[in-house]
Amino acid sequence: MKAEALRIDADRLLARLGTLAEIGAIEGGGCCRLALTDEDRAGRDLVVRWMRELGLEVSIDPIGNIFGCRAGTEAAAPVMAGSHIDTVRTGGRYDGNLGVLGALEAIATLNAAGVRTRRPLVVAVFTDEEGARFAPDMLGSLVYVSGLQLEEALATVGIDGAVLGDELRRIGYAGAAPLGIHRPHAYLELHIEQGPVLDAEGVTIGAVENLQGISWQKIAITGQSNHAGTTPMRLRHDAGYGAAAVGNFLRQLARELGGDQVCTMGRVALHPNLINVIAARATVCADLRNTDEARLREAERRLAAFLEELARAEGLRITSRPLARFEPVRFDPGLVQLVERTAARLGYTHRRMTSGAGHDAQMLARICAAAMVFVPSVRGISHNPAEHTETADLAAGANVLLHSLMELAA
Ligand code: GLV
Ligand code: MN
Ligand code: MN
Repeated sequence: MKAEALRIDADRLLARLGTLAEIGAIEGGGCCRLALTDEDRAGRDLVVRWMRELGLEVSIDPIGNIFGCRAGTEAAAPVMAGSHIDTVRTGGRYDGNLGVLGALEAIATLNAAGVRTRRPLVVAVFTDEEGARFAPDMLGSLVYVSGLQLEEALATVGIDGAVLGDELRRIGYAGAAPLGIHRPHAYLELHIEQGPVLDAEGVTIGAVENLQGISWQKIAITGQSNHAGTTPMRLRHDAGYGAAAVGNFLRQLARELGGDQVCTMGRVALHPNLINVIAARATVCADLRNTDEARLREAERRLAAFLEELARAEGLRITSRPLARFEPVRFDPGLVQLVERTAARLGYTHRRMTSGAGHDAQMLARICAAAMVFVPSVRGISHNPAEHTETADLAAGANVLLHSLMELAA
């Protein structure tokens, strides 16, 4: 068969997605495979087995990134494709997994057709993309591109008090391959959009040209515990109120800045968290994102000013520390065009777009040409077990990935 006529096997891709989704399955069809848990280990074991069955040479680096390499006809810099298989606690089955299994499906298709590429092809599974257990997000790919020291990453303490390096060793994925192994010629990541644009417009393929900057902060509020019935309102130093005020302010901040600005308070904890006790302490995690770095800085500045004012007005002690900070990224224009061109050639509707979510591709963009292929998320739902993408769209994305990889590796 001529290479141009090659198409991935949608049933095989769907079967792999389904099998992986059985690991850490949660009600509603989703997954809980928080980074470096037993479920993450079981998912990794399965993907490594599939890599070996496809004849890939598997390497694992000291931060637990997994690489499966298919040799090229020449020992040139490889073309890499991949994503992550860790999930948030209430995740869907496609986020990240599609990028990894779509890349494996591309390899399976090339193997079945006996097609060799000039450059090697590498399928990458990056550690802890989500950052839900260990911040920052994209941690494995960040270490891979030397954006974070290995020792610092290994010392990261998770939301459950676990230390990343201990967990990595415990699950058997502290590998010996050198960091930065397989320095790629190019990196392409297939991913579900996780937003509503493609679905709403009825477009099949998103050629992602840029990605939002991300600012995560952990805000610690200290007040004074006291009796909920006896303490007059004017005499309170209520950390619970402080947390609520921050949440309220974040919504207001996004509204005031407008444009692309989004703000979220996704995590809040009160201590002692009892109905009749004014909270002594609160921890609030704020997630700010914008495609414009100057606007994102402005959001950070306004939040800092608000926290100062809140502390003064309520007699609270408030400190904030960054958990993640990444500037907006523009992907490689040539690669974005390749995605568009490939989608058009295969007969899929396409458009350029921005990514609202963080992705390993934004880290890889620091060291090589990188871009992403998006497929629609039904009703734009993600980080939710109800996350869904139609089979035809999964297949379209994997076909665009396959043919883009072939061209890049030719
Ligand atoms: C990672 O999925 C993020 O965008 O938070
Ligand atoms: Mn993802
Ligand atoms: Mn995610």
